Formats: sequence, structure tokens, C-alpha cells
Amino acid sequence: MNTRITLAACLLSAASAAYAEDQSAPVSGNKLDVKHGAEVYRSSCASCHDKGKDGAPRLGRPENWKNRSFESFSVLNNHASKGFLSMPPKGRRPVLKDQDIAEAVFYITQRLEGGK
Ligand code: HEC
Repeated sequence: MNTRITLAACLLSAASAAYAEDQSAPVSGNKLDVKHGAEVYRSSCASCHDKGKDGAPRLGRPENWKNRSFESFSVLNNHASKGFLSMPPKGRRPVLKDQDIAEAVFYITQRLEGGK
């Protein structure tokens, strides 16, 4: 497990403690599966984030994310799940679990760092 995954997992478990109070399905466990994140991204996020629809920051374009909360995984994750300005909660896929969202966000951040 590399340092970044460990860091993300730490932030995530801190965030999940906060979620636990008001969510029926809090993020559980410490593992983020980036492959599954990529699948979630493809099916639920790509329609906006590939092309920048409605001003969505684009996948793999760090300059689009510069002024966002890129440094803070838990903030991005929270925004993806609860919604933020023009970003609809869970990308309008309420069936997605918190874990799915976290993995999709993790995938996005990995791609910003040049990962595949
Ligand atoms: C209907 C279009 C749409 C879909 C689908 C969508 N997004 Fe977004 N997303 C946006 C837009 C637009 C913004 C920019 C919000 C703004 O700043 O107004 C955004 C912003 C974000 C941000 C940055 C939030 C911040 O703190 O700046 C994250 C993270 C994100 N989306 C994750 C996701 C994930 C994960 C999915 C799939 C589960 C997803 N989005 C699906 C439109 C979408």
C-alpha cells in the first residue's frame, strides 16, 4: 500500500466517523478500490467530467482542479456525495453507495497525478 492510499484511507475513515451520525450507509473499511472507482466514474461521472459539461472540472486536467479542494480528499468526497454548486449530489445517482463515490473521487485524484 503506498503512502497516498494510506493517507486517503485515513482521511476517509475520519470522514466516515462524521458521516456515521447522519447516514444510514457510512463508508466502511479503509480500502479504496481504484479500479472500481474507474467503473463508477465511467458509468456515473464521465458524462459531465470527461467534457466539462456545466463547467465540471475535467478528468486528467489538473488546471481545471487547481482552485478546488484538490488537497483535501475528504472535502472533495463530501462535495461529490452531498453536491456542491453545480455538482449534483452523487452525480444524480442516488443508488451509489458512499464507498462508490469515495472510490470514484479517488480515481479522479489518481488521474490528476498522472496515474492510470
Ligand atoms: C450532471 C453533471 C455531473 C455529473 C454526472 C457529475 N458531476 Fe461532479 N461536478 C459537476 C460540476 C458542474 C462540477 C463543478 C461544480 C461547481 O463548481 O459549480 C462538479 C464538481 C465535482 C467535484 C469537485 C468539487 C469541489 O469541491 O470543487 C468533484 C470531486 C466531483 N464533481 C465528483 C464527481 C463524481 C465522483 C461523480 C460521479 C459519481 C460526478 N462528479 C458526477 C457535474 C457533474
